[in-house]
Amino acid sequence: MPIIPTTLTNRALSLIILLSVVWCSCSKPENKDLTFLDNVKLESSILKVETLQDSLEVPWDIAITNNNFLFFTEQYGAISYINLETHQQQKLLVIPEVWHQRTAGLLAMAVHPDFKQNPYVYVHYTTKTDTLIFNKLVRYTFKGDTLESPKELLKVKGFKAHNGGRITFSKSGKILWATGDAYHGDESQDLNFLNGKILRLNPDGSIPADNPNPKSYVWARGFRNMQGITVTNKGNVFTSEHGDAIEDEVNLIEKNRNYGWPAIEGLHNLPEEIVFAQANNTKEPVKSWTPVIAPAGIAYYGSASIPEWNNSLLLTTLKGQSLRVLKLNEEGKAIVSEEIFFENYYGRLRDVCVDANGVIYISTSNKDWKPQVDFPLPGDDKILKISISDKVLKKPLTGLKAQATLQHLNAAQLYQSYCVSCHQADGKGVKDVFPALAGSAMVNGPSTGLIKAVLNGINRKENPQKMPSFAFLKDQELADILIYIRQNWGNQASKINETEIAQNR
Ligand code: HEC
Repeated sequence: MPIIPTTLTNRALSLIILLSVVWCSCSKPENKDLTFLDNVKLESSILKVETLQDSLEVPWDIAITNNNFLFFTEQYGAISYINLETHQQQKLLVIPEVWHQRTAGLLAMAVHPDFKQNPYVYVHYTTKTDTLIFNKLVRYTFKGDTLESPKELLKVKGFKAHNGGRITFSKSGKILWATGDAYHGDESQDLNFLNGKILRLNPDGSIPADNPNPKSYVWARGFRNMQGITVTNKGNVFTSEHGDAIEDEVNLIEKNRNYGWPAIEGLHNLPEEIVFAQANNTKEPVKSWTPVIAPAGIAYYGSASIPEWNNSLLLTTLKGQSLRVLKLNEEGKAIVSEEIFFENYYGRLRDVCVDANGVIYISTSNKDWKPQVDFPLPGDDKILKISISDKVLKKPLTGLKAQATLQHLNAAQLYQSYCVSCHQADGKGVKDVFPALAGSAMVNGPSTGLIKAVLNGINRKENPQKMPSFAFLKDQELADILIYIRQNWGNQASKINETEIAQNR
């Protein structure tokens, strides 16, 4: 108990206390408490999920620096950071040039691996002038509380959709930039175009001398729309990619390999795909998903902090609304199991990253162009923090082992698996992009026209979006789906049977 001179009045004393409190809070910022959300039970570990940050607008990319900042982009154009010790957030910049529409905008970001020495933030965003759409790779320098000296490293063709993309650093310190096909699949195969590729650059934007062609940025080709990229402890590079109607992929990226799009979709299992594969130095995905899950950000987990997840790929999904833990084999090149967490719980998940202590961060995407029924949740979008916990405060969530084989799906599940991502659960579609099936003349019209459309796909001149073919579905499955869409949401057309489907193939 300190001795207080009796000459001090009570008022003077309280002033001293007040001043010392003010002084303390200036010199050392108050740590912001995080909101506890859930516990998760693994085989032996207990995890906790907390909200690191809320009220964001589609935090598209999150990345951690080696001095403990979490940087994040918001799709409309903002870059901010959170100090992971104090949890204080700071907005650094809004890039005016960003063109934000549907899946275009400020997308990927990577921080230099040695951020203390090289405080560089690399971003990928879409721009539009008149009718020209581009994706730019720009390097900013972090200084004080802003990002300055933007340097444009590369500009690649863009589109309203399929802009990709993600950025990361390889083990040898090179930039890897995953670009989308910009809706021109054929260009993914053409080495004269930089869309639909993995591009490899030196950190200053120049072309590395050991690229397949020392005059070209292209490292690998044949991609549709990549949404995630990560490098493992062994230096293996994995990407996640959206398939068309089927076959989402995770790929292991190797120098100069061809990943097949648009000639090959997913596994190399059709006769014409096998012919293409034999002639083109292709590499098959390490994993493929049908029905699609819309994989997004991917991050390697190589920490003993959560032992059950050590040596796996963490994959966030949008349509699948989940975090998938894809265990790797010893060599780190193949996926041996898949476990699903948070399914339909926090909503669409856009990105994931891991800090040096094995703490995981994921970002939600419930305010993007495709919000799901019952979302956004209060406080969306959020960045969630997942870490080891020593206590259980709430009945814990658990994981779900992914099914090895597809079970028989009923009509509603078939619609959910193959059609809902575009035409939506209420059959109303997405305005100006995906037509409504509720009240549609084609859906309610003669069965032959409808069957042919769904078997062959639809590609009308006036709509830049095309509908993929669903010929891969069995006759019975297609009949079930078509009856479902003809007899839901107020539609009242006649049934269709599997013989009719077979006759129209
Ligand atoms: C990847 C997005 C996507 C998926 C998945 C999808 N569609 Fe479509 N669908 C479209 C687009 C885009 C159009 C419009 C194409 C055009 O006009 O060129 C369309 C049009 C249609 C139409 C015509 C509607 C009208 O009134 O013009 C029908 C019928 C239809 N789709 C049924 C289905 C069914 C059944 C499924 C599931 C088996 C499905 N679609 C899955 C994107 C999709």
